[in-house]
Amino acid sequence: MRMTRVHAVSLLFALTLLFGWSAATWGQTDLTGYWKFSVPNGGINFLEFKQTGDQIFVNGRSGMSQSPYGTLQGDKLHLEIPSPFGPPDPNRVTVYDAVVSGDRFSATKKTADGEIVAGTLERVAKEEAFPARLPLPVLRALPDNGLARTPPMGWNSWNKFHDKFDDATVRQMADAMVSSGMRDAGYTYIIVDEGWSSYRDKNGNITGNARFPDMKGLADYVHSKGLKIGIYSSPGPQVCGGYQGSYGHEEQDAKTFAAWGYDYLKYDWCSAFGIYQPTPADLEGAYQKMGEALAKTGRPIVYSLCEYGLGDVWTWGAKAGGNLWRTTFDIADTWESMERNGFSQLDISQYPESGHWNDPDMLEVGNGGMTGDEYRTHMSLWAMLRAPLIAGNDLREMSDETKSILMNTEVIAIDQDPAAKPVQILSVDGKSEVLVRPLEGNAVAVGLFNRGDEPAQISFRWDSLHLGAYLGGRTMTARDLWKHEAVPVTGDSFTATVPRHGVVLLRVEVGEFRFH
Ligand code: GLA
Repeated sequence: MRMTRVHAVSLLFALTLLFGWSAATWGQTDLTGYWKFSVPNGGINFLEFKQTGDQIFVNGRSGMSQSPYGTLQGDKLHLEIPSPFGPPDPNRVTVYDAVVSGDRFSATKKTADGEIVAGTLERVAKEEAFPARLPLPVLRALPDNGLARTPPMGWNSWNKFHDKFDDATVRQMADAMVSSGMRDAGYTYIIVDEGWSSYRDKNGNITGNARFPDMKGLADYVHSKGLKIGIYSSPGPQVCGGYQGSYGHEEQDAKTFAAWGYDYLKYDWCSAFGIYQPTPADLEGAYQKMGEALAKTGRPIVYSLCEYGLGDVWTWGAKAGGNLWRTTFDIADTWESMERNGFSQLDISQYPESGHWNDPDMLEVGNGGMTGDEYRTHMSLWAMLRAPLIAGNDLREMSDETKSILMNTEVIAIDQDPAAKPVQILSVDGKSEVLVRPLEGNAVAVGLFNRGDEPAQISFRWDSLHLGAYLGGRTMTARDLWKHEAVPVTGDSFTATVPRHGVVLLRVEVGEFRFH
């Protein structure tokens, strides 16, 4: 029987109802499944796709995306995947493009920073993309490792270089840490972030990639400069950019890091998102596991937890052996990002204690995205918060202003004050905030922060500092820690004109007895 046009359309309609608008209906390629994007000597990203018609859904920030992240039109695949980290941000997307052909074909990936890398997209089994979860220990308090009595200070490669750096860059940073005077100002750790690791050898040992051929030699070099060295891994199989992580090899990697002579581990949740749940129990377990592995090595290794503040890490990070823990999503070199990360800490400022610190992320000072006033606010705020001071700029080429900010020893002394007491809000008036922090001895740090877009007059009353200066005939002295000069203590209060996004930071203390 000849099929009429009407019959054909009805049949098509019925088929469509039967199968849905699935790719299979049309004989078109169906990308549904698990895929690996790999770059030679670079990272690996695993992706899960669900294809409906020409639309591609991607396993993203919280399971399968609700809306498509791209299309397959003919053989042209185009994906725009938002960053799974931090608040949704249209500027932070990763774009994949490919001409699809079978189960293995060339593809390009454009990172959120605009860099385009060429790699291969290849279909893989589910177990390779998202391995089964491993049993995790329950949280139990590990003995304090005695490290990081004051907030750690150092340098980390990520903010400036992302994964575009090598052994020589790290050695040069160690040299510059010394020649610039930063080591003498207290900066100690040179931390190698994302981009050093390669695949595992036949015994399952993690190895450095071609840019990092001798991880032990690198540690020896950094030590020879009177500095300490840090390394980076993840409880997932990959770190965030796809390089090898420690999943299933936690003890083995801790031993390797110790044998190479590393003194600091930043342990970043990253691909653990695809294996464990970001619930308190899983987060605690995954970090406890590495905490135990590090303790077992017997080497003093600062343990830096990086899971963006999930599961209220400040309430349990110390138990898992953490010396510091990230409390925020990633900082960017902008006023908005720095302001958000920094001021959000005031709500949890009571948690850090000696050896265990809140970490609102690394410094951006010197990277060029903020003004001098904004960078002085950044440094002052981190000091008031008792935050780790981990520089993230190129130490080989620092302007005098950058040096004057990173090496302001009077501000560093506030950060490193042994009393380690929490910062408090003295007053908030619109965009003007006065923060105070009790210091060792009869002293306080006072920060007058102008978060507004216009210069502002900000004041506080001397007696609101509760220094008891007038009791027993003592005098009060004050010092401006950015101008490096004494401030007269006169009248009832102090007032300063603070530039937009700027700060005035004072150290106020009770001086000698005054005998009448
Ligand atoms: C995460 C971390 C960053 C950095 C990158 C590396 O985003 O929060 O500090 O380590 O991973 O990919």
